[in-house]
Formats: sequence, structure tokens, C-alpha cells
Amino acid sequence: MADHITLSKELEESLVEYAKKAMKNSYSPYSHFQVGAALLTSDGNIYMGCNVENSSYGATNCAERTAFYKAVSEGHHSFYAIAIVGGERGNITGICTPCGICRQVMREFCDENFIILLGNSQGYKRYTLGDMLPYSFSLLGPNG
Ligand code: THU
Repeated sequence: MADHITLSKELEESLVEYAKKAMKNSYSPYSHFQVGAALLTSDGNIYMGCNVENSSYGATNCAERTAFYKAVSEGHHSFYAIAIVGGERGNITGICTPCGICRQVMREFCDENFIILLGNSQGYKRYTLGDMLPYSFSLLGPNG
């Protein structure tokens, strides 16, 4: 678990740019809703993810979970922030908020200070996991 931290504006902006890049790989032939995520580990690595849909819809994986599972499968368990962008056919005039399952997956590895950057074509807004998943459930205790 990471303590409360502040990222530079440059790093936050670059995470949002990585999320936009990741969105281009979205495999979403059913919903046409493209999502990209960029996850920053506490040792400075960035893992990108996109949504990967399936003919059997329930097998779909969201962009955020793709990024987390890539990072965890490479040995990372400590994270500072995630940037997320998404919209229909890649139109990112609006923001894409993480789904409930993804918020719970974030909670497995992150505490309430984990930073969530929601980007769009104009810029981004900063939230925390505590904002997005209050009164969260974890078997690991309040700080993971
Ligand atoms: N999706 C994500 O990738 N992340 C979210 O947090 C919201 C939803 C994807 C899943 C599906 O491929 C498409 O967006 C429409 O739900």
C-alpha cells in the first residue's frame, strides 16, 4: 500500500496521454465503447490496458483490470495512480468512470489515497479511490 502522495502535473498529464494511447488498442466490436487505462506503480513503471470484449459478453475485461492484471502478473503490488479515458467509438468529450468491479479490484491493492485521473479531450480531473469507493470492503484492513 502506498501513502498519500502528490504527482507532478507533468506526470499526471503523461499518464492521461498513455491512457489515450492504450484506448487505441480497445477490442470492442460489440459495444463500440473504447476505454484505455494507464497504471503507475510505486516504483515508477506504467502499465497500459484496454477493454477486451468477447462474443460471450460476460468474458469481457475492462481496461482498468487489464492494466492491473498485467502489472500484478509481472510482480507489482504497489500503485500510486491510474488514468482512464473512454467513450463511444473513441469519442472522449466526456469522462469514463470506472465500473464497480474495477473499483473493487483497485481496492485489493490500493487504499483510499490511490489517485484516479479521469481524462477527456479537454484535460482531466483528479479523484481518489476513497471518493469512488467509500466504506469499501477489504479482508486486508483499512490500509491493505
Ligand atoms: N468498460 C471499461 O473498460 N471500463 C470501465 O470502467 C467501464 C466499462 C468497458 C467494458 C465494455 O467493453 C465497454 O466498456 C462497455 O461497457
